[in-house]
Amino acid sequence: MLLKSRSSLPVSLPERKSSMFTVRRLCSTSHSSVDSKEMKKFQLLAHKWWDEEGEFSALHSMNDIRVPFIRDSLLNMSSDYHLGNPLAGVKILDVGCGGGLLSEPLGRLGASVTGIDPLEDNIRTADQHKSFDPVLAKRIQYKSSSLEEIVEEFMETFDVIVASEVVEHVADLETFIKCCSQVLKPEGSLFITTINKTQLSYVLGIVVAEKILGIVPEGTHEWEKFVPPEELERLLEANGFSVKAVNGMLYNPLSGSWSWMESTSVNYALHAVKSGAQGESSPTDTPSEMEGEQPSATAAP
Ligand SMILES: C[S@@+](CC[C@H](N)C(=O)[O-])C[C@H]1O[C@@H](n2cnc3c(N)ncnc32)[C@H](O)[C@@H]1O
Repeated sequence: MLLKSRSSLPVSLPERKSSMFTVRRLCSTSHSSVDSKEMKKFQLLAHKWWDEEGEFSALHSMNDIRVPFIRDSLLNMSSDYHLGNPLAGVKILDVGCGGGLLSEPLGRLGASVTGIDPLEDNIRTADQHKSFDPVLAKRIQYKSSSLEEIVEEFMETFDVIVASEVVEHVADLETFIKCCSQVLKPEGSLFITTINKTQLSYVLGIVVAEKILGIVPEGTHEWEKFVPPEELERLLEANGFSVKAVNGMLYNPLSGSWSWMESTSVNYALHAVKSGAQGESSPTDTPSEMEGEQPSATAAP
């Protein structure tokens, strides 16, 4: 079964001695997943994470659907339920945690969260914000690090990995997925949200979201780096994962809210389980909100 670990503390990571973008451990390949051009873009926004009306507002509101998606998918695979703290004892790695927008609600559900991000300034922002809530102090640990750097130390350590709105920014997706597989326990869950590579995602994600509405700064996304779900599924399966769910997500720029939809042609969320897992996909893998009305849509963030 999943969710075996009962430790309430996040995994303790070694002190980082290398420079900001240096990669120490390379997931059995000579490639880094970190793209220095992408790092420069995020560097400029590192103090903006917790501005709910700012550049990351769509990530704030995405929590309304991505947090229940993660929580319910995990609970449906577990016989262990902790009232009030449903994810108590679950060790989660939040890769590309940014300012901790997703780490914090997962920590509040009881999980022990390790958030990593290659950008030191992101981690500084995340650490500072975490300090406002004493409950999170013991549950979340942040570290400025790439995934490659922690692989050797944290082989098969985590019950769950989340990589939300990250894979469209990495330099080498194959290395990234390999590393995810290596730090995840057998039967562990991987949750990814990202943007599909379609004509519609170009129009909504780049033309409308960046150039017309300015929901995210111009240049945030490169269409070439968007990831079709079929490609992601192929990579995951080649690395010992079984894909349990791929659900389309829709952003409504007028209300600033997200809902589920059947089509994965723009944004989507994926749940995969590392081999060894028992059981089939759960009812929550197809969220009930999927039937909701679908107003004018924009790919974000
Ligand atoms: C769009 S933000 C998403 C932040 C966070 N996951 C959230 O949803 O609130 C993308 C984040 O991925 C990080 N990132 C980019 N490339 C990465 C890589 N190769 N490995 C880990 N994180 C990366 C960036 O520094 C940035 O913080």
